[in-house]
Amino acid sequence: MDIFRKKSVTEQLQSMETQDQSHKLKANSLTWVNIAAIAMATAIGAGIFTIGARTIATQTGPAVILSWVIAGTICFLSTICYAELGSLVPLAGSGYNYTYTVLGEIWAWIVGANLWIEYFLAGTLVAKVWGAYYFTPFIARLTGDPDFTLTISVAGIPVDLSPLILLSVVLALIIAGVKITSLFNSVLVAIKVAIILFVIVVGIFFVKWSNFVPFIPEFVPAPVETVALAENTPFGLLLGQNVGAFGLMGVLVATPSIFYAYLGFEAAATAGEEAKDPGKNVPKGLLIGLGIITLLYIITTLVVAGMVSQAEWADLVAQGRPLSLSSAFDIRGLPWAGALIDIGAIIGLATVVLMAFYGFTRAGFAMARDGMILKFFFKTSKKRQAPVAAAVIGCGIAMILSSLFETMLIIEPLISLTWLGAFAIICFAIPVLRKRQAAEGYVPPANAIRVPGNPALPIFAGLACIWLASTAKLWVWIDYLILLAVFIIWYFGYARRHSTMNQLK
Ligand code: ALA
Repeated sequence: MDIFRKKSVTEQLQSMETQDQSHKLKANSLTWVNIAAIAMATAIGAGIFTIGARTIATQTGPAVILSWVIAGTICFLSTICYAELGSLVPLAGSGYNYTYTVLGEIWAWIVGANLWIEYFLAGTLVAKVWGAYYFTPFIARLTGDPDFTLTISVAGIPVDLSPLILLSVVLALIIAGVKITSLFNSVLVAIKVAIILFVIVVGIFFVKWSNFVPFIPEFVPAPVETVALAENTPFGLLLGQNVGAFGLMGVLVATPSIFYAYLGFEAAATAGEEAKDPGKNVPKGLLIGLGIITLLYIITTLVVAGMVSQAEWADLVAQGRPLSLSSAFDIRGLPWAGALIDIGAIIGLATVVLMAFYGFTRAGFAMARDGMILKFFFKTSKKRQAPVAAAVIGCGIAMILSSLFETMLIIEPLISLTWLGAFAIICFAIPVLRKRQAAEGYVPPANAIRVPGNPALPIFAGLACIWLASTAKLWVWIDYLILLAVFIIWYFGYARRHSTMNQLK
């Protein structure tokens, strides 16, 4: 059995067409506007509401704008690669199916596993953050009871019910079918973007140019001797020093956490089978969604950096106060704006969870249809054609984990690694695809999405993903490699033998 066997687009479309209704997603349901809304739903979350401000205060000063631009450029370059493949292979599993066609089964499995883990972990982590850091404090403020908690004790074990509230709604929406999920999502995205725009307009009046000086604060090296090996990063080891904060190095070191803000937008591509004219609408929705996200991020960060002086940020850090978008408005004596931002964050993070589980079920659906994971994952409900079993299992496990674990922030960099792993492979797939197309005499249609500057640009984008990944700590790498090893063992133990490719030819 060849682990690099490839599934042609025709074979993929055939296997989709021959399924009975109980194993099919609802076609022709989403426009490019819905796709862009899904991208914005999954991406705009903790990144804009907390990470941006935290980075200004602790790592970069106003130069955080450079981190946004670097992260956005890498994201944009890899997205054009994603979009080119998406226009050729318009199916539910996005990156997994693209790689199956271009690089072959084992690479497809690795990309599929990365995306699957990414969506599951992101959905679970953000549900926890939503409940513990936003929803519970919000209710506490509303009720005027600072001790308000949604954590109960079950047989002596503390169980946090707050993420369960969100995950139950997410589960119900996914089961209700893609049209309702997407409608709900689009309304929530419109509200969160409106709140962010409002905040920008109010904040502009408090911007002072003096707050941008110095634009790049002086570099502060970190003490080398305090860092254990597992806490160091491949990038740090390469430089032979522990990287510190501020200066140009601070900008580079901050880029991966800023990058987290973009993460997840590609979940929109998993909607390939449910979109109208997917070859056109999926790439268009992805690229327009990413453009809007980038613009919002950069303008918001410019406003926040201009509203608060570097000395004021340093004070907040010294007092151990929360560092977020709302802190900037609290400092300027606008607590009502801070409260509005918190509502935006509650809505914003809810859509991240909704769409992360949407992506999780669709990626799982595609792999189950190909026989790579257990078949029940691709059973859909009769009326709504929603993957019910996949949604119940995914959300169910997420409910258990998020209610039992006190803090889950530790898995945030692991989520970034899974994204970067998948995207690096997809970028490197473009030169391979082009070579094959050239050999087959393929002439692309005039309006086809094509990455410019092949092979240099896709290879550069892939290497940039690897560089970002090299700034993750070594213990995160070890966790990531263990997860990957589990999936590779599954491939050789189950997926390869059950793959539907065995029935072809
Ligand atoms: N990009 C998403 C966020 O910022 C995961 O929360």
